[in-house]
Amino acid sequence: MKIAVIGTGYVGLVVGACLSETGNDVTCADVDQGKIDGLKQNIMPIYEPGLDSLVERNQQQGRLHFTTDVGSAVSAAEVVFIAVGTPPDEDGSADLRHVLNVADTIGQRMTRELVVVTKSTVPVGTAARVATAVSTHARHPFHMCSNPEFLKEGAAVDDFMKPDRVVLGVDSDHARSVMAELYAPFVRTGKPIIFMDIPSAEMTKYAANAMLATRISFMNEIANLCEKVGANVDLVRKGIGSDARIGPSFLFPGPGYGGSCFPKDVKALVRTAGEAGSPLSVLEAVEEANDRQKHRLFEKLRCALGDSIDGAHIAVWGLAFKPQTDDMREAPALTLIDDVLSAGATVTAHDPAALHEAKRRLGDRIRFAESNYEALPGADALVVVTDWNEYRHPDFARIKAALRRPILIDGRNLYDATKMRSLGFTYLSFGRGREHA
Ligand SMILES: NC(=O)c1ccc[n+]([C@@H]2O[C@H](COP(=O)([O-])OP(=O)(O)OC[C@H]3O[C@@H](n4cnc5c(N)ncnc54)[C@H](O)[C@@H]3O)[C@@H](O)[C@H]2O)c1
Repeated sequence: MKIAVIGTGYVGLVVGACLSETGNDVTCADVDQGKIDGLKQNIMPIYEPGLDSLVERNQQQGRLHFTTDVGSAVSAAEVVFIAVGTPPDEDGSADLRHVLNVADTIGQRMTRELVVVTKSTVPVGTAARVATAVSTHARHPFHMCSNPEFLKEGAAVDDFMKPDRVVLGVDSDHARSVMAELYAPFVRTGKPIIFMDIPSAEMTKYAANAMLATRISFMNEIANLCEKVGANVDLVRKGIGSDARIGPSFLFPGPGYGGSCFPKDVKALVRTAGEAGSPLSVLEAVEEANDRQKHRLFEKLRCALGDSIDGAHIAVWGLAFKPQTDDMREAPALTLIDDVLSAGATVTAHDPAALHEAKRRLGDRIRFAESNYEALPGADALVVVTDWNEYRHPDFARIKAALRRPILIDGRNLYDATKMRSLGFTYLSFGRGREHA
């Protein structure tokens, strides 16, 4: 099938590469000239395990192309995926400018019957607005499909190749059969393709992210309460996660959710609910709890350092909003760093993949270390923010020897609290009983 994917970010690039891998002829188009120039030379604009080899192989075999000419990509296609960004507008609603801009181009440049797929996360009613924009210029029939994407950054290729499910909101038999054919290679193990109407598909994506964000904020507040009452959230987590109705994932406390999706999608859904006169007060509380949680690492640091935080030097391990990605959008590390700098302290940070992105965002506000141990010398405390694998079993003697004061704030509950204290650390983590710095 001839496919155009418009927007070559985390989602569009993965979708395009994976669809070319199953034999389709895919053109990925983006307005970012630098990104496209790099991709033509197999230089990835993002860190995503497994993506580079997929892009290189399919590009070399002539099934994957990159261009900045969105119109020409559309005119050659039978199916167009819209995968551009939908950042939050000032009022929290999804900014659909890029999506509707692409819709205009599709209407102007389509040359045959087309399936137009909204892959970006968009509020209910957006596919209808896209259809109106396309039809203003269209000279050929077209069909709409809402195909929300559930991939996780850091495991995106695997998630797309082996999805738990594929959700397809369609408005015609033609769209249904084209999309079923396109996705057939990805669901051979029997995972479901769930067809539905378009508004339900659009809502499914927001409901999924809202549910996951709710679990995170819920567990973070339970962890905070555990600290007050002397309970251990690690045990509580196991106790509730083994209940089949609850399940074990997304129950780990931490410094709050970040990334490009949860914060903006929660905001957008709260906004949609308000406009519809059906408030989502649960989700408003989720957002408030997350905003508070993002400052908890700093509160722990201040608790450990007291007044001496002014003028202190802090080592930070982990800048990406989660492991296996270089994405720092809304990362808890950014809140921590802002808080630390505002308190008059300085920072040296390490991240296995996000240093480049961090330098772009933070410039010379902090120092950067090429290895995690290089971040430590002379620091008054170490804060572990992202649970990268390489931070899980560090050399504690080496950490203690390098730090000026043996203070370790563990934002991911990676280490054994009893062991850390027996090694002589002032050790603070989330929700493991009453803590005394
Ligand atoms: N990142 C994720 O994990 C994830 C997961 C599921 C869904 N989503 C959703 O997918 C969408 C894309 O997210 P992303 O993380 O890939 O965004 P991104 O910011 O990484 O990429 C968006 C790309 O679109 C390009 N673009 C913008 N306007 C364009 C235009 N008019 N024509 C062509 N290209 C244009 C930008 O240059 C950019 O490269 C969003 O709606 C997001 O909510 C993201």
